[in-house]
Amino acid sequence: MTPPIIETPRLILRRLANYDAPALHAMLSDAETMRYWSSLPHVDLAETEAWVAESVAATARGDAHDFAVLRDGRLVGRVAFWMGNEIGFLFHRDVWGQGVAREAVGALLRHGFETLRFTSVRADVDPDNQRSLALLERLGFRRTGFAERTFKIGENWVDSVYLELPASDFVAN
Ligand SMILES: CC(C)(COP(=O)(O)OP(=O)(O)OC[C@H]1O[C@@H](n2cnc3c(N)ncnc32)[C@H](O)[C@@H]1OP(=O)(O)O)[C@@H](O)C(=O)NCCC(=O)NCCS
Repeated sequence: MTPPIIETPRLILRRLANYDAPALHAMLSDAETMRYWSSLPHVDLAETEAWVAESVAATARGDAHDFAVLRDGRLVGRVAFWMGNEIGFLFHRDVWGQGVAREAVGALLRHGFETLRFTSVRADVDPDNQRSLALLERLGFRRTGFAERTFKIGENWVDSVYLELPASDFVAN
């Protein structure tokens, strides 16, 4: 099957590839970008290479759907479905605040509902990650639950807010 390419007004989403590791490392090693992530910032490129290789392999097996987000040919983010219908995303800090994440995540959701035929999409977010919660709620996600001490990041436990977007609530734009 031909890997999907998704185009939006400003962006191209294509399958994540192993050669994307250096560009992703700039995000995955940045303390502010990783502040609410489910792991500590990556320390060296080899860690990101292993992380990307696992994502690429999971996508090839059909266990994940992992996309690089390109703007004017430059990799500015990564969006994915993994663990079934759970959504994940991160973007380079220099494109935050421009609606780029919303455009890319909206396109991934459309792919999830229209092509992958998901009946709903789930998200698991650190309660302090206001930017991520705002993005998801602007796209129509509703909070469905909360759990304490779900991830141990370094020495600290963090909590989770759970959100869900049923296919029937998705408004493509
Ligand atoms: C979470 C994250 C993706 C949010 O990115 P973001 O840039 O804030 O999200 P959006 O694309 O929705 O942009 C919204 C902002 O763009 C502005 N904007 C500008 N032009 C816009 C346009 N054309 N369309 C929509 N919004 C636009 C909005 O007004 C809003 O501004 P504000 O931040 O001042 O309120 C980003 O912070 C990130 O990568 N974080 C690190 C990784 C992470 O935590 N991932 C989530 C794990 S659950």
